[in-house]
Amino acid sequence: MKGLILSGGKGTRLRPLTFTQAKQLVPVANKPVLFYGIEALQEAGIEEIGIVVGDTKDEIKAAVGDGSQWGIKITYIEQEAPLGLAHAVKISEEFLDKEPFVMYLGDNILKSGIKSLVDEFKEKKPNSLILLTEVPNPQMFGVAELDGERVKRLVEKPKKPASNLALVGVYMFDSHIFEAVNAIKPSWRNELEITDAIQYLIEHGLVVHPHLVSGWWKDTGKLEDILDANRLILERITRQVEGQVDEESKVSGEVIIEKDVRVENSIIRGPAIIGAKTEVIHAYVGPFTSIQKECRIVRTEIENSIVLQGSEICDIGSRIDESLIGRETKIYKCPPKPSVYRFMVGDKSEIGIK
Ligand code: G1P
Repeated sequence: MKGLILSGGKGTRLRPLTFTQAKQLVPVANKPVLFYGIEALQEAGIEEIGIVVGDTKDEIKAAVGDGSQWGIKITYIEQEAPLGLAHAVKISEEFLDKEPFVMYLGDNILKSGIKSLVDEFKEKKPNSLILLTEVPNPQMFGVAELDGERVKRLVEKPKKPASNLALVGVYMFDSHIFEAVNAIKPSWRNELEITDAIQYLIEHGLVVHPHLVSGWWKDTGKLEDILDANRLILERITRQVEGQVDEESKVSGEVIIEKDVRVENSIIRGPAIIGAKTEVIHAYVGPFTSIQKECRIVRTEIENSIVLQGSEICDIGSRIDESLIGRETKIYKCPPKPSVYRFMVGDKSEIGIK
């Protein structure tokens, strides 16, 4: 069985970060989102993965390489424009070479991985296996209508959803899917929808099994979802302190402090992760915070947040919460007079002040 990870798309809901970075490389607990997908496929025994890439292909290739870091083989498939998930399948026909495959959306994370689902697919051999989960806002997803164990109908982002069962971004197919992706027409958003392709399978008498996902699932396309995913992943880390923590500091709970980190006169309350060469000085780093490498957190309090590589946050008067701070960003206190805010902020940024 092969794997197909989709890692194109523009990530418009994560601007401004995605002006300069692929959304699949935004880190969750200091690891790019995309790596969770690669590892889920590798753990399920898949050794050959195709990654469909778009405008951000160079960055994705630089981060992922040829797959040898996971002991698997990675092939890149270029999609000239984001023309839909079914279009991505269409252009991957040669790579997939009629083998059954798992399609995995590169910004999705599933709590329990996908091994048991791949095993179920291999054993029961349906033409497709889809993953479903209950969501509070089904109109934002592909939605399934079930009739007992049978999938009756699938609709992409319906205005009036027939259920609250959303399609999770992991799908399994055999080669019948090519007939479907070649037959369907683009949707109102001018994309070839995988949801329509699966609906085609249903209408043509092919077997589509639904599987309800029990653990959490996150599509990390938006800020709140990235922060949620960060919280859920940090919940399962275990304490490992490699950097230097001075006597005046207190580190409690599950905290990872990587090499060459310097913690001085600070409180770190886990779960949290502090990347290599970061300095935490006279600061408080609270639960559910991921700070990447080479940052400086000085006389500042921060929690429930993600800070990307090379950023400096100094002398902030109140606690920073629920924030995602991009690479090499500087946030600091202005001199007391005149009493002003001073910004140099990129396009589509978001700043909340009290
Ligand atoms: C895509 C699919 C949708 C699915 C979702 C899961 O939506 O079209 O059916 O529920 O992924 O993440 P998109 O991210 O393109 O809005």
